[in-house]
Amino acid sequence: MRIAVIGAGYWGPNLVRNFRASPHWELSAVCDVDPDRARRLAGPGTGVRVATSVEDLLDADDVDAVAIATPAATHHDIAHAALAAGKHVLVEKPLADTGERGRSMVQAASDSALVLMTDHTYCYTPAVLKMRELIHGGELGEILFIDSVRINLGLVQPDVDVFWDLAPHDLSIIDFILPGGLTPVTVSALGADPLGAGKSCIGYLTLPLANGAIAHVHVNWLSPTKIRQMIVGGSRRTLVWDDLNPQQRLSVYDRGVDLGLQALDGAERRTATVSYRLGDTWSPALPETEALAAMVTEFASAIHAKRSARTDGGSGLRVLSILEAASRSLDAGGGVVPLGAEREPVLAGKSFGG
Ligand SMILES: NC(=O)c1ccc[n+]([C@@H]2O[C@H](COP(=O)([O-])OP(=O)(O)OC[C@H]3O[C@@H](n4cnc5c(N)ncnc54)[C@H](O)[C@@H]3O)[C@@H](O)[C@H]2O)c1
Repeated sequence: MRIAVIGAGYWGPNLVRNFRASPHWELSAVCDVDPDRARRLAGPGTGVRVATSVEDLLDADDVDAVAIATPAATHHDIAHAALAAGKHVLVEKPLADTGERGRSMVQAASDSALVLMTDHTYCYTPAVLKMRELIHGGELGEILFIDSVRINLGLVQPDVDVFWDLAPHDLSIIDFILPGGLTPVTVSALGADPLGAGKSCIGYLTLPLANGAIAHVHVNWLSPTKIRQMIVGGSRRTLVWDDLNPQQRLSVYDRGVDLGLQALDGAERRTATVSYRLGDTWSPALPETEALAAMVTEFASAIHAKRSARTDGGSGLRVLSILEAASRSLDAGGGVVPLGAEREPVLAGKSFGG
């Protein structure tokens, strides 16, 4: 199938490289409002068409699908134009800049029976796939807590705060690895802007889960040290993912706390007994494959099989609903925002287009 990549900035070249290398795709066009960027990315003498507007791009009939790597505020209009022209659509995270606009994209894809996929890149890494397998296979037992840290010296983005820039990664991963997806009861966000950039550059998200567990996400553009770590604590085992440690990205700790209730005198009085288990630690072997290569393959497979993609529009919407609740919480000075009616159902694999 023939693909056009829209957006030749920071991320577009990664998509182009992977579509070029894929046996499932032929790169037929690159589009950017900046003609020099588009030309550079298309490369001289490659026969790849260069377009400087989405209208020009869609005028010719040489693409079957588009990949959108432009700023979040432009995703909605570009996706709608592409869907209206009968093209399958891959959209970079976040799916859109508001839940309402995201929902209209999902609806349009569903109405026209076209695939709309969100590039939640990490869901295609061997480490995250293994985490999902272990958690879904019951290796961790009941999930007690999730703690995710994604901090480094990052670019202060012109259009979004640190929550909308970085937290889509953590949220989409947690949504992917938890059976039933990420469905917090409430969302609380605390942000800080100590440099006066006009938006949160440091952010903490607290997401209580229905079973009494809690997920926490720390994102930060101002940290001189880079940390990409997630801990998933379970009643049987605990899993630690350190994405910056290629020798041992995943560690599984066979350790934990058991809580028992003991009758004191055989009558009503009871006390909690706490015992600690100290078992082995092991590290699953993982292949070193590029996530984006698997992602572009999944896009092609979903189109061929006429099914929704692993990270479909629905997963993009679930992430958006939490980001929107986080923004409302920030506006309320860190208040607790219930995630009720607007929560997106988990439909992955069930609804084509969604
Ligand atoms: N999956 C990931 O890990 C990952 C990583 C980085 C960025 N992203 C996402 O990729 C998207 C782009 O981010 P970026 O950092 O590459 O941004 P960028 O600003 O570096 O590049 C965006 C490009 O889009 C072009 N553009 C803007 N509006 C356009 C339009 N209407 N038509 C055609 N071209 C247009 C700009 O000229 C620019 O070249 C964002 O949604 C971002 O969140 C994803």
